[in-house]
Amino acid sequence: MTTISILVSVAGILSVTAQAETPVERGHYLVEGVLTCGNCHSPRGPGGVIDSTKLYSGGPQTWDEPTFTVRGANITPDAASGIGKWSDDDIKKALSEGIRPSGGPLAPIMPYGFYKIFTTGDLEAIVAYLRSVPAVSNAVQPPIYKAALHVDTPPGADKPMTEADLRDPVRHGFYLVTVAHCMECHTPRVNDRLDFANLGKGGQTFRGPWGETMSRNITSHPEKGIGAWSDDDIKRAITQGIRKDGSHLKPPMGFAWYARMTDADLGDIVAYLRTVPARE
Ligand code: HEC
Ligand code: HEC
Repeated sequence: MTTISILVSVAGILSVTAQAETPVERGHYLVEGVLTCGNCHSPRGPGGVIDSTKLYSGGPQTWDEPTFTVRGANITPDAASGIGKWSDDDIKKALSEGIRPSGGPLAPIMPYGFYKIFTTGDLEAIVAYLRSVPAVSNAVQPPIYKAALHVDTPPGADKPMTEADLRDPVRHGFYLVTVAHCMECHTPRVNDRLDFANLGKGGQTFRGPWGETMSRNITSHPEKGIGAWSDDDIKRAITQGIRKDGSHLKPPMGFAWYARMTDADLGDIVAYLRTVPARE
């Protein structure tokens, strides 16, 4: 796959180079950026700071829900406590279908409902990158499932996109917003199902060390949503957690990961968000 990548030099000078990106490089860009995998799969030290010596070896938090109690799994290549023994197909199946090699389903906190849309190339790139990260031994408490699990997939995201789809800026923006699982947090939940008729309307509550936050309306509504924000306002909120009025947003949105996206990718996200029907 040949792509144009924008390299920012240390001096901050923009240089544009055409180069062939390897699958590991593409996987690195996706996993360490828009996909925020590390946000759920890396241990944190004091103050919630990610422990960079143990990246991807298991998440800090336990999700204790009526239907399951799980923690972010160790997804490093460690054979005993990670996914070192899984085949490439095993990893792909876990990502896009939420099924483990043993056949059991994963709790939908792992956003696999949003990963069915991955292009074949991106899915392969993610696997290649996961295989390249250092193996870390860290046994994570095994999952407990208490009832049948269900998973929600946004309309239009139920099958892989093609490279050709991604050439259209709005389609590409939809792809990125889906795999970034933005709408998993920014769509209301009704009876524990995502209400996609109100896509982007916000209203879910998140509790954590930061206190309590509620996801906001990111539809194109001019007052209730972000319809009146400039492109730069929207990009700043996504990458720095700063609102149009200058106030700071709180977690759990993964601003630091999203900040690693290229400006072109952010631009396509904005282009797509502008098409999300206004809701209030
Ligand atoms: C919102 C949090 C979250 C995000 C984002 C997330 N995961 Fe997960 N993931 C989980 C949780 C929680 C589990 C364990 C689920 C269970 O045990 O049922 C899991 C399980 C997995 C598993 C199965 C491993 C095992 O041993 O069971 C793999 C592989 C995986 N995730 C890879 C990824 C990759 C790659 C990404 C980024 C593309 C990612 N995850 C993004 C929360 C997340
Ligand atoms: C894990 C949940 C989660 C994910 C994923 C997430 N967000 Fe958010 N987002 C939130 C929460 C919660 C807030 C409000 C935080 C606060 O008020 O302090 C927020 C705030 C925002 C805001 C500010 C809106 C306003 O009116 O202030 C924008 C814009 C936004 N998110 C866009 C996005 C986009 C685009 C993505 C995907 C690239 C995304 N979010 C992914 C939870 C999430």
